[in-house]
Amino acid sequence: MKIPLCKPSIDNDEIKLVSRALKSSWLTHGPYNQKFEELFNKKFNYKYSIAMNSCTSALECAVKSLGVKGEIIIPSFTWVSTANAVLNCGSKPVFADIDYKTRNINLKNIKRCITNKTVAIIVVHFAGLPCDMVEISKYCKKNNIKIIEDSAETLGAKIYNKFTGTFGVGCFSFFPTKNITTTEGGMLTTNNKNTYNYVKKLIAHGIDKNIKKKFWHRVAVLPGHNFRMPNHLAAIGYSQLKKITKFNNARNKIANLYSLELSKPFYKIDVPYIPKGFTHSFQMYTITVNVKIRNKLLNFLKKNNIEASAHFDPPLHSQNYLKKYKKKKLPITEKLSKEIITLPIFPDMTKKEVYYVIKTIRKFYKINNL
Ligand SMILES: Cc1ncc(COP(=O)(O)O)c(C=O)c1O
Repeated sequence: MKIPLCKPSIDNDEIKLVSRALKSSWLTHGPYNQKFEELFNKKFNYKYSIAMNSCTSALECAVKSLGVKGEIIIPSFTWVSTANAVLNCGSKPVFADIDYKTRNINLKNIKRCITNKTVAIIVVHFAGLPCDMVEISKYCKKNNIKIIEDSAETLGAKIYNKFTGTFGVGCFSFFPTKNITTTEGGMLTTNNKNTYNYVKKLIAHGIDKNIKKKFWHRVAVLPGHNFRMPNHLAAIGYSQLKKITKFNNARNKIANLYSLELSKPFYKIDVPYIPKGFTHSFQMYTITVNVKIRNKLLNFLKKNNIEASAHFDPPLHSQNYLKKYKKKKLPITEKLSKEIITLPIFPDMTKKEVYYVIKTIRKFYKINNL
């Protein structure tokens, strides 16, 4: 048996819509973008959503929309995009440590990084579990610090009934490993009309569609990008989004099965923790094991055709070009990056496949007398 780390669920629904979009001859952003964005707003209670070519682009737009440069607090336990967006917009990332249990940035660690140059925080909702946005939002509002949510891994997850991406500017990813896919793609969400209008221009060459002296005029008002999502990819997203509840329920069912079996005391494995009032979208299913056996277990899984991985090892502050931004000690990030294992999870994963992973882990413990 061979088990991939993740596998997108694409069927005839997506093929039918993508084919319709291609046959329509409208190949850049078009009618399916509007449908996709409207459904996104409706499902998750956002005021404005803008489909674009990646979450990384959404993060850059969100950072640019701040309108000021300065220090931006981010976790080191994330994908490089979070730091790159900050640097590519001329600001400076400041790495904050995380909480061991939730693996998320928290207020205590944020406070340690605040200086008079802090302009914003990018929270990263790790693996599908939202950060504690209630206490973070309260603090940021009081101290005039803007919030950007790197929600790449957290489509459909809630904190006390509010979806991620509603507490600040939300940035979602539709890379094939994510909760829904458009192949490549992302979405920016905001409740602020000015941010919406600015980002709409920024992603399409800086053209202001409302300024037109002659019908052929294209008036550029700022140095924009081409970050648009094409119509046929939006068609895939629209079709995928209709199935998000089904996908996330399937992910949660698999996660529950893993947690039930792997949390048995003799394994000494920590399974994901979900605080009361939070929901998890399980874009990834991660466990932690003793640092002494982590690499050996990863290799054993690989030998048994199970595609496991370690998110995030190395953490960002260990990447050469980012080392200089480590100003504070990051002991939890360092510990977690050496203990974490990402196990396969995807909506169409069968019970048989889940048990094959569990049995293989069990075998590893037995063989090694652990
Ligand atoms: C936390 C986080 N941020 C950003 C990204 C980048 O997403 P994209 O590939 O859509 O730019 C990812 C995806 O890997 C991610 O996990």
